[in-house]
Amino acid sequence: MPSPLICPSILASDFARLGEEVAALETAGADWVHVDVMDGHFVPNITIGPDVVKALRPHTKLPFDVHLMVAPVDPWLEAYRDAGADYLTVHPESGPHLHRTLGRIRQLGLKAGVVLNPGTSLSVLEEVIDLVDLVLLMSVNPGFGGQSFIPSTLKKIERARALLDAAGSRAHLQVDGGVTAANAGACVAAGADALVAGTAVFRGGPPAYADNIRALKTA
Ligand code: DX5
Ligand code: ZN
Repeated sequence: MPSPLICPSILASDFARLGEEVAALETAGADWVHVDVMDGHFVPNITIGPDVVKALRPHTKLPFDVHLMVAPVDPWLEAYRDAGADYLTVHPESGPHLHRTLGRIRQLGLKAGVVLNPGTSLSVLEEVIDLVDLVLLMSVNPGFGGQSFIPSTLKKIERARALLDAAGSRAHLQVDGGVTAANAGACVAAGADALVAGTAVFRGGPPAYADNIRALKTA
């Protein structure tokens, strides 16, 4: 089984040293940097805006995988493109026209992602599967790091993988929330090829990042 892309979520990093943290992730072998953008409206938490992403851009060559937990999301696409995002992943519930939003992301020259909450049906994918480069399945309800992995996500990963394969899609299938070395193997076995992890990567501080990432890659 190929090893998954590891996408550390900087929500769990030291926000007082964000530039050093993303540089440390690159040194530690991370594949992408998962940037959790929260607006205090779509989710009950506020994190970082486009200016912070722009400030982080020179500190790493890794792709910025920006998870937009923002509503309405459409007014923000260009700002995060200008800030240096590579992937923009949106929730269907964050705007009235998902098909148009995903098309706009690609028109801006970025990779388009759709993210499904634990309570959101996979049927959303049927209408937009050709418009996405990434499908993100939330294994927690969004808003905070450090939550427990929702076990029913494993079956949802299997069903999503079957949908993507049947459509001949080359989109990444990413899982986000409560991912640890204890469940990473099951996620990959179910069909995920990219794993987001915050707590499990940043636990123990910078000296532990490489081992934590390796533990997720080889789980
Ligand atoms: C939650 C975020 C997740 C979270 C993951 O709303 O989308 O990316 O930061 O953090 P852990 O891995 O600690 O659950
Ligand atoms: Zn996220």
